[in-house]
Amino acid sequence: MNPVKVGICGLGTVGSGTFNVLLRNRESIQARVGADIVVAQVGARRENPACDTGSVPVTPDIFEVARNPDIDIIVELIGGTTVARELVLEAIANGKHVVTANKALIAEYGNEIFAAAQEKGVSVAFEAAVAGGIPIIKALREGLAANQVQWLAGIINGTGNFILTEMREKGRDFADVLAEAQALGYAEADPTFDVEGIDAAHKLVILASIAFGIPLQFEKVYTEGITRISTDDVNYAEELGYRIKHLGIARCDDKGIELRVHPTLIPEKRLIANVNGVMNAILVMADAVGPTLYYGPGAGSEPTASSVVADVVDVARTLTAEPKHRVPYLAFHQDTLSDHPVMPIEDIYSAYYLRMSALDKPGVLSKIAQILSDAGISIEALIQKQPAEDADHVPVILLTSITQEKLLMQAVAEIEALDSIADEVVRIRVESLAG
Ligand code: HSE
Repeated sequence: MNPVKVGICGLGTVGSGTFNVLLRNRESIQARVGADIVVAQVGARRENPACDTGSVPVTPDIFEVARNPDIDIIVELIGGTTVARELVLEAIANGKHVVTANKALIAEYGNEIFAAAQEKGVSVAFEAAVAGGIPIIKALREGLAANQVQWLAGIINGTGNFILTEMREKGRDFADVLAEAQALGYAEADPTFDVEGIDAAHKLVILASIAFGIPLQFEKVYTEGITRISTDDVNYAEELGYRIKHLGIARCDDKGIELRVHPTLIPEKRLIANVNGVMNAILVMADAVGPTLYYGPGAGSEPTASSVVADVVDVARTLTAEPKHRVPYLAFHQDTLSDHPVMPIEDIYSAYYLRMSALDKPGVLSKIAQILSDAGISIEALIQKQPAEDADHVPVILLTSITQEKLLMQAVAEIEALDSIADEVVRIRVESLAG
């Protein structure tokens, strides 16, 4: 087989890692593919000292790479959704296969991109878009192809997990840990994407489409970040035997599909509760195999490059296969995708952690208990702290039974309206993630 020619667009953290891995492991990759894989051109505005491009031509015009008639596969690593979308569509229009690590692009424009790619008979591969170096797309799309996936829950933003871990283990300040994640190259260009849950929502929507055979519906993901989590909540959760993790949860049943990203209390004994730092993990529950857990680095130069290069290998291996015989973009063939509805957050069921600041006087707790009981919600655990010196309010922390979100929200509104309650009631969902 002739050498497969690759054009890399973007030479940042992931681009330089991809270049280096392709070069360093060239021989073993050739032995796996049955053809040499050669970087024929790089599109980047500037060189990156983290990699030596040597004699490989580098152009500042990424569209030149997309139109280069010698190139078989374009690797899009520029990020963002505006120029990246144009670049990918241009590459497809020119008959190139595409490999991308761009979760925002796939989550928001994947349906359009796959339609264009199908029309042209080319592949679009995006393993690196979700959970960096963990081959979770391949696991869901191919390894679990025998199963009906029931639900999945993942720690899919390394920056957020790093921040929550440092807060819990070292009591460190939120902003300080975020600055470190940025310096280490884990955080997004706009770190609000990490801490407000948008990055995790991008990844969740991709996982859900592949798991359940539905079109990408980013606008329907309920998204809550970690900016309102305090060290107090982290510590109270620990006292109750839980860890707070920022989870992406997707669940499919007869009523519909849940797509939600939010901080979640999970029992500390679960393996996934012990995934710390920048590491990612995805727990998948499927009917035939039961629970499986996928763990690894969710960001970083060569971990992400590992997934990018695996996609290049996959695409190179299919270059002689008919388009209809390739693995479908979203695991299920485009004309079989289902219109099963995504449910509004008010309709989901969960248990809840509630923290409130209550006036320290007789009868207050019983009023709170009455409101919850009137809503059919029982209290599973309760902590009340001693008042601090001179303070007239005390922290009260409750764990509720499983209830519907809209009932819980009504009860919380009634509790917040009591004269004896100061401030907003902090509310964090609790998931057992039991098999
Ligand atoms: N900002 C992302 C994270 C990078 O922290 O997980 C990998 O997608």
